[in-house]
Amino acid sequence: MAYTVDKNQLCVDGVALSDIADAVATPTYVYSADVMTTQYHNLENAMVRNLPADQQPLLCYACKANSNIAVLSLLRSLGSGLEIVSGGELHRGLRAGFNPKHIVMTGVGKQRQEIIDCLEAGIKQFNVESLPELEHIQNVASDIGKKATVVFRLNPNVSGGGHDKISTGRERDKFGLNLENVHNAYAMAQDMSHVEAIGLSMHIGSQVFQVLSFRKAFETLPDIVKGLRDKGYNVSSLDIGGGFPIQYNDEELLDLDAYAEWVGQIIAPLGTDIIMEPGRYLVGNAGVLLTKTLYTKHTRERDFLILDAAMNDLIRPTLYDAYHGIEKVSKDGEDEETFYDVVGPICETGDTFSKDRALPVMKTGDLVVIKEAGAYGMCMASNYNTRGLPAEVLVQDGAFHVIRKRQSVDEILDKDIVPDHLK
Ligand code: LLP
Repeated sequence: MAYTVDKNQLCVDGVALSDIADAVATPTYVYSADVMTTQYHNLENAMVRNLPADQQPLLCYACKANSNIAVLSLLRSLGSGLEIVSGGELHRGLRAGFNPKHIVMTGVGKQRQEIIDCLEAGIKQFNVESLPELEHIQNVASDIGKKATVVFRLNPNVSGGGHDKISTGRERDKFGLNLENVHNAYAMAQDMSHVEAIGLSMHIGSQVFQVLSFRKAFETLPDIVKGLRDKGYNVSSLDIGGGFPIQYNDEELLDLDAYAEWVGQIIAPLGTDIIMEPGRYLVGNAGVLLTKTLYTKHTRERDFLILDAAMNDLIRPTLYDAYHGIEKVSKDGEDEETFYDVVGPICETGDTFSKDRALPVMKTGDLVVIKEAGAYGMCMASNYNTRGLPAEVLVQDGAFHVIRKRQSVDEILDKDIVPDHLK
């Protein structure tokens, strides 16, 4: 994120966060189009440098990371494809104008209507995660007279991921098929009238900072591909997933070229099309959660900074003990620092963004940003404590645009139905 300070106010790409708070109120997610664009080009260019021109990957943005339709439209305009995990995400992608031929569907529990919608839209492929799911896709496709292109998600039994809850590549995780079942799946697909199997996919986890795990997982592929081809199966497409990490604090990260080099050295020689599913890398560093100090509270043991954002707006610290930078927006009188437990108003002790964080002394009304919140922030927000979902704003070319309105309490309450006998 390109932060600057102008007139003592923290700015994102030249726009003062205090102006956004005045216009849109808080809590609000603020995204930088510029950072998303730069990240996309960084990834694309690393691949250009390390892979043959005729094997450039299709980058299918994993929109579970941030699925606002304006964000999707921006990434689509850069040339991105899309990875989806639900019918809802399919419809977001279609509204954002993605070519269905650039959409891949993953997920362990694809449902009939989602499969129908994807087939009717004409998506590129389904990444299949179990044998019953393969049968289900065959049946649904046959019912509506369409052919489904599938790849099989291999579970390489490699550990990766920044937290146990976001590691997906171990055999004990619910994802993918082991090698034996990949062979079984190909054999089954051969006898299926409405399914065509064209390759494999893999995704070992998210925020994979033990980056050698990627290489380890890639290295399983050449033998497996050979084994399948020896049986006459078509392996012409490999989807190598997402998971590339970003910096939240002081993590030492692999440089992208090393990763791209492994793709070039291990995957490219297999002569397949290559798909990648980056999520966090494209949007994580591009967003902040802009929030306001409600109160400071001092007890004999701790000093609390109570914000108007809470775990319902950004659940990562509570759910994964994730670190997010926290910064005061106004740079006036920052000399004095103190240590705060930074919390939200929700009635759980777990509603804590950070413990013992060194920050300038704060007072009611002071704006604060919680940083690196562009991925898995808004899209995981909930209505817990009947709190409306935050607004979202995109900063682009020196101006800001509201890309999602704040949810009103009425919008939440209107969904509830009281049966007549309880009125
Ligand atoms: N492909 C598949 C099949 C996935 O399951 C995921 C993420 C991705 C791609 C994108 O991974 P990325 O490049 O963003 O690491 N809520 C968690 C992260 C969950 C990731 C789930 N799957 C968090 O806040 O850290």
